[in-house]
Amino acid sequence: SSPTSSSPLSTPIPSVILTQDELKKIAAYKAVEYVESGMVLGLGTGSTAKHAVDRIGELLHQGKLQNIVGIPTSKKTHEQALSVGIPLSDLDSHPVLDLAIDGADEVDPHLNLVKGRGGSLLREKMVEGACRKFVVIVDESKLVKHLGGSGLAMPVEIVPFCWKFTAKRLQDLFEDAGCVGKLRTFGENGEPFVTDNGNYIVDLYFKKDIGDLKAASDAILQLAGVVEHGMFLDMATTVIVASELGITVKNK
Ligand code: 5RP
Repeated sequence: SSPTSSSPLSTPIPSVILTQDELKKIAAYKAVEYVESGMVLGLGTGSTAKHAVDRIGELLHQGKLQNIVGIPTSKKTHEQALSVGIPLSDLDSHPVLDLAIDGADEVDPHLNLVKGRGGSLLREKMVEGACRKFVVIVDESKLVKHLGGSGLAMPVEIVPFCWKFTAKRLQDLFEDAGCVGKLRTFGENGEPFVTDNGNYIVDLYFKKDIGDLKAASDAILQLAGVVEHGMFLDMATTVIVASELGITVKNK
């Protein structure tokens, strides 16, 4: 049985076909109900978190929220938050945050996450690791039985220096799981994707279950050249899932 508690269908959604983006927005708006005036907030990155940032800006503008300080998890979110009028600061000035709201790429039944397919995993992990409460917002497509089992990327941020060497060592770590590591690139010429921190990302793809997640996490972090990985283990305190049937709130 799942160690989490759920309150299914707490908010019914009208019976129309909703797009994935509309579901993301519904989850995001629900999460913003957790925000109170005076809070220091971690602001996530990605298409789901973007809705939450917009909503917080809107409530500030309407005077329904006051004295919010936002700590963005990427340069992109920094720009967006400024554009909607959220006052910003950083972890040096606010080492403990009240609440963070962010999306995820995968959520398992224990509320462990894969994050970073948008490339912001390091700052997300720093900010969200400093929060008293971390609310994750997803549409139901992000729910998985096992992290890394969806056939999609498990991102690892690495230093650019001899990246092929580090990518090969990462791949070798998970040889038994049929791991293939690919440098994340963009554009027609396959330029390396560079993170906000000047690093590269290797996306790991697994053919089989990677087994013990904590052991996998420790093994990855022990490799020199690795900066951080996208497994967020035991960090989320609440996950809000939007589906055609309604909103489900899962609490740790
Ligand atoms: C960015 C992330 C995002 O939260 C994650 O990729 C989900 O993105 P989206 O809300 O666009 O589906 O981890 O690094």
